[in-house]
Amino acid sequence: MTAELDSALRIDRDFWREPYPFYDKLRSIDPVYKGTVLKQPGWYVTGHNEAATILKDARFKNRITIPETSTKYEALKNVQQNMLLFKNDSDHKRMRTLVGKELTPKAADVLRPFIKEAADELLDQLQGRGTADIVSEFAFPLASLVIARILGVPKEERHQFRQWTADLIETIDFTRSRKVLVKGSETAAQLTAYVRCLISKRKADPQEDLVTTFISAGKLTEEEVLATCVLLVIAGHETTVNLISNGLFSLMKHPAQLGALKENPELITSAVEEFLRYESPTQLTARTASEDCRINGHIIRRGEQVYILLGAANRDPNVFDHPHVLDIERNPNPHLAFGSGAHVCPGSSLARLEAQIAIQALLERAPGLRLAGSAVQYPRLMGFRALASLPVILT
Ligand code: HEM
Repeated sequence: MTAELDSALRIDRDFWREPYPFYDKLRSIDPVYKGTVLKQPGWYVTGHNEAATILKDARFKNRITIPETSTKYEALKNVQQNMLLFKNDSDHKRMRTLVGKELTPKAADVLRPFIKEAADELLDQLQGRGTADIVSEFAFPLASLVIARILGVPKEERHQFRQWTADLIETIDFTRSRKVLVKGSETAAQLTAYVRCLISKRKADPQEDLVTTFISAGKLTEEEVLATCVLLVIAGHETTVNLISNGLFSLMKHPAQLGALKENPELITSAVEEFLRYESPTQLTARTASEDCRINGHIIRRGEQVYILLGAANRDPNVFDHPHVLDIERNPNPHLAFGSGAHVCPGSSLARLEAQIAIQALLERAPGLRLAGSAVQYPRLMGFRALASLPVILT
């Protein structure tokens, strides 16, 4: 039965552009579905309550999934296994306490003037240009400047981050091939060499930045400091860029919502929550059951993989009225875009603030903002809702 259902549920070409009909179909069969529909065998969770339950359940562990046998991915494996994201229990708690302290809502708010100034400077450079690509010319440089500032990376050295981030994001996606893993491992080696050098500089000459804080706290091994910085580079870029560009794209496709936001700029807070729900930058995360667990009448066996489709949970009609409608005033909006439980995103306040400032600054400076064409491309990633580019007309 599952094999038949699985083949009936194969994703098609439209999935990359619009995964939501597929998610709906899967959820209507079972919000906790066992199969191989996205190629990997495991449990696919599309229901909101079920996703939240599993994310909060410590019996489901995060782990790296790079093949153990190969030495070709050594650099990637070494850095991933020291990342907070792939730690569990007491190790996770030790690292998380330190990182969480540095990314509180208050710490994010201190960066408000810096983010606003950076957004304005980027928009100054686009002034009079007529057209621009939001992804590469606004969202990415902005997120890059912010994460570079926090970590203490000189801003003129951050240009390699774009390719590094793109290579490493692909290595954690379902779609990855061996070639992607090999390339990702080379990139991991370059990025770790860069960060190692930064760590040595900060040891010799401490500054007011996170690299110095992580070293001087004395709670992390050197490899963990390294992996934490690498994780922040990746996490701080990709998803925030996607939130800003997905949000602007959604607004331009919904002129009434765009008009409402321009008329009532104070709606930006709930608008960003709705962008997080409607086009969740992280579409999927995974866990492994550490023991047999009963969820929704199913027994998930020890060692089985669980794929939590955050983008599907955020469109669950049992929790959200008219889930496929963009409503920038939606309230309440209990989306799971930042995950939940022990691994819930510690960068959420910063990401929200960056998106609020970026979108508002752009709408103020270019009130006639519109799409420069109807076609956009979504890279073939299952775990991330990303736009390859977003060409716009700035008027
Ligand atoms: C819109 C932007 C963002 C989204 C949608 C997002 C999403 C997420 C999600 C879903 C998780 C949990 C993954 C899981 O449970 O397996 C996570 C974890 C994490 N995020 Fe974010 N994130 C964003 C921005 C950021 C930023 C700006 C930073 C840092 C500056 C950051 C740092 C992290 C870290 C360090 C973790 C691992 C936490 C842990 O394992 O305890 N994220 N993020």
